[in-house]
Order: sequence, then C-alpha cells, then structure tokens
Amino acid sequence: MADVTQFVRPDIAALEAYTPIQPFDVLSEQLGIPIEQIIKLDANENPYGPAPSVTEALRNCPFYAIYPDPDQTRLRRAISPFIGQPIERILCGNGSDEIIDLLMRVLVQPNDVVIACPPTFGMYSFNTGVVGGRFVAVPRDTNFDVDIEALADAVLEHQAKMVFLPSPNNPTGNLLAREHVLRLLKLPTMLVLDEAYAEFSSGSVADLVGQHPNLVVLRTFSKWAGLAGLRLGYGLIPEWLITHLWKIKQPYNTNVAAEVAVLQSLAETEALNARAKIMVAERERLFAALQTIDGLTPFPSQANFILCRVERGDAAQLKADLAKRGILLRYYRNPELANCIRVSIGLPEHHDALLAALADLGYR
Ligand SMILES: Cc1ncc(COP(=O)(O)O)c(C=O)c1O
Repeated sequence: MADVTQFVRPDIAALEAYTPIQPFDVLSEQLGIPIEQIIKLDANENPYGPAPSVTEALRNCPFYAIYPDPDQTRLRRAISPFIGQPIERILCGNGSDEIIDLLMRVLVQPNDVVIACPPTFGMYSFNTGVVGGRFVAVPRDTNFDVDIEALADAVLEHQAKMVFLPSPNNPTGNLLAREHVLRLLKLPTMLVLDEAYAEFSSGSVADLVGQHPNLVVLRTFSKWAGLAGLRLGYGLIPEWLITHLWKIKQPYNTNVAAEVAVLQSLAETEALNARAKIMVAERERLFAALQTIDGLTPFPSQANFILCRVERGDAAQLKADLAKRGILLRYYRNPELANCIRVSIGLPEHHDALLAALADLGYR
C-alpha cells in the first residue's frame, strides 16, 4: 500500500504552522483570573463590543436555519453607500482575512513573488506560503515608514505580482500617505491597501478603487463595528478582478448572523463613529501618558493600538508581569520589533489600570 503520509504537498509539509493568539478562556484558566476581570488589550478588538441594537437584531433573526445569500446582495447594497463604491466592486468575506486568501489564490502561482513591508500584519506572508508563492520582505525605515524607493525597486527586480500594505499599518499604527499610494500605483503590480483600521485614522484611499486597475482596498467590521467574532470583512476590487474571486469563493462564506449584525451596524454608523471618536481621544490620552514614562517610547498611531518600545528592562518580562495582573498586551519576537509591546485601545478605566500597573512595576 502507498505511504499516504507522503501525499501531502511538499510545500505545505514544509510550511511552519501559524501560531494564533491563545483563546481567551484558556488564558483566563492559565492565569487563574476570571474572564470578566481580564483587561484584554492584545488583539485590537473594540472594547465597546457591537452597537447596542445589534444584539437585539441577532436575537430576533428568524433565519438561522436557512443558508445565507451567496450573492451577498443585501450586505453589498448596504455597504455601497457607506463606502462610496458601487456594489459591483464589493465582495464580502469571512473577515478581510478571507479576501486576502481569495486574492492570492486568484493571482499568485507557485514561485510568484508577493511583497510586504515588515514589521507588518502576518497574514500576507502566511497566505503567500499557502499558495506556494515566494514572500519578499522590504523592511520599513526606522520610523516604520515604507521605503518607497526600495519597494519600487523590489517590485521591478522580482516582477512582484502583489504588494500588501496596511494603512494604518499593524502593529506600528502609521498611515501610508496618499501621494505614496499614487506613486506605487504606477508600478506593474497589484497594490492591496489593507484599511482594517481606517475608521480610527484620518485617511483612506477607498475612493481610488476603480480609477486604477491595480488597486484593491480591504476593509472590515471587526474593529470599528466591534464584530471581530462574527467575521465580516470586504474587498473593494476592480471589476476585471472581482469576477474571478466570485468564481472561487465558497458559496456560503459569510454567515447569516454576520449579515444581520452588519446591516444593523450600518444603521448605527453615527453611534459607531461617535465611539470610534472616543477611542481616538483615549488613544491620544494613553499616548501622552506613555510618553511621560521613563523607559517607554510610544510610537504615534492612527489606529486602535499603540506600539511602544521598552527602553529599560525586558518587554517579554513586562508583558508577563502585566498578564499576571490580568492585563493582556501583545509582545513580538521578531527582530524589527525588538523589545516592543503593542497596547490595543480599551476603555478609559482599562488604561487607568494599565498605567497604575506600569507604575507599580517601576515604569513611571
Ligand atoms: C492589518 C489587518 N488586516 C486584516 C485584519 C483581519 O481582519 P478581519 O477580522 O476582517 O479578518 C487584521 C486583524 O487584526 C489586521 O490587523
């Protein structure tokens, strides 16, 4: 009999497993701290949760036994005026993560090059590996800005099929200037601007989709609308390309509960925008407070998190010490983020608790 264990695609067998963050309940058990007492500032979630009427709408939905609409018609009709793009250019996914996956599966053949600029969101290199592409990193400069000339050179040198740039970038929080986007759009490559955090920032290039055949913009309801657990993101994708994504997407990729929650969220944009404004004000308050702390250097952010370099002491230790007190932050092992932590924007009282814990640990 054939050795079926050898049937695995060699490129998949060689892939490193993705390490997701620990589930909340597991962490709570490990730390011996009840879930409701944990201050979770590690995954850029919205501390306010969904808009108030979303829970009610979910409770009252009579259609959970029915498959969702594979054409996502109601969803796309509601998103269209919100984002200012026609429904023909909108495709929803099981989180914007799924749109990243679909784009790669349509465009990237084995050994095609995909470029991103670390430190950045990890899914771009992960998905490149899944489709057998070659990932090329063009590192950011010391301020974490994209090195536009180095990126342009790399696109030409490798004939890169795709470039992924979050704006604001995760985990550094900085925006890509519109003039730089326009410069990059002249390159012979697909440019994917990932605007997962756009609602907390001062800029978006969503309006440019359709004017440039090589621009895709990704957005999500995970952050601004507090729906991370329901998984609904979307792509703004030129017509020539979106046709191919429709062909390969799973028919029922977005679920009924997510649709209900998104439609209700879009009926509450004013309330959600008001909350985003509060989170931005809190971000600025936390940034100012972190700036005064000896041994910590926060980086300015346009997103719902702040990256912070630990100049005195060990960031891994600091993360562990805060976790023992029930405050969860993100810590990175990669060299570009040596001794950095990332704090997601929480409620004002979460930040007060964080600052008090930091003071207690000698960071004042
Ligand atoms: C830059 C960036 N893009 C995409 C995502 C994924 O968003 P979604 O929840 O819509 O899959 C994240 C999540 O943290 C992110 O940071």
